[in-house]
Amino acid sequence: MRIGFFDSGIGGITVLHQALKYLPNEDYIFYADTSHVPYGEKTKEEVREYIFNAVEFMANQGIKALVIACNTATSIAVDDLRQKYDFPILGIEPAVKPAVQKCEGKRKKVLVLATNLTLREEKFHNLVKRIDHHDIVESLALPGLVQFAENFEFREEKVVPYLKEKLSSFDLKQYGTIVLGCTHFPYFEKSIKTIFPEEVDIISGSIGTGKNLKRILEARNQINDGTGDILFYKSGNKVEDKKTLTNYNKLLVMLDMINDIKSVGIKEKSIEDKR
Ligand code: DGL
Repeated sequence: MRIGFFDSGIGGITVLHQALKYLPNEDYIFYADTSHVPYGEKTKEEVREYIFNAVEFMANQGIKALVIACNTATSIAVDDLRQKYDFPILGIEPAVKPAVQKCEGKRKKVLVLATNLTLREEKFHNLVKRIDHHDIVESLALPGLVQFAENFEFREEKVVPYLKEKLSSFDLKQYGTIVLGCTHFPYFEKSIKTIFPEEVDIISGSIGTGKNLKRILEARNQINDGTGDILFYKSGNKVEDKKTLTNYNKLLVMLDMINDIKSVGIKEKSIEDKR
């Protein structure tokens, strides 16, 4: 059986990319609810219905686990979905805890970037209340980045002016860690970094997902020996046209490149640390 990945759009590919590293021999279904993206600008009730329809569709295809590769959908529906279905369901939420730990003692703040709906939800407010004892967590919705990603628009000359405008009232020197609380945002990591005058850490919520998924499948004796095949669906329709499939594959390659830059950075840092 395949593993299901679900998002409102192409953001979930950033999470699938993480999973492929840990589970390259699994086969996947990736479902993007592109008829209803962006979720972040809709009401909770609307989005809930879309999510349940999409997950029912995937369940009918036969999946052994589901990753809700969307912070917004996780905050709206993960608990209820777990009640309804027997297969394991993994969700994603803004990585506030590691971000606060990184900033504590450094006199720096945390900035959580997410969708309007995620930031409005009680789940997010409870998370911050539990962790943010020194009032260092702030947040900002960036719906424009979801739109850019859905239009395959990643050029810095388009993205950076939007970010500058949205962040114009923030004192950017104050922030030490940026949390990417929407799975569409990792594509823009470089543009986000360039906005800040000082070095910032960027953390995304999907970082542990591949590892967790692997652990869960191992515990259930459900590891596959497949080929890493991915079936893409757009709101219930199988994607067959070559151009779209090529574009999706290009995103995976682009994410490889973003990660390469990062791991080179880490290597250089650890060499420095040893000196
Ligand atoms: N990718 C989604 C998230 O992680 C939502 C984007 C949207 O549909 O607004 O929240």
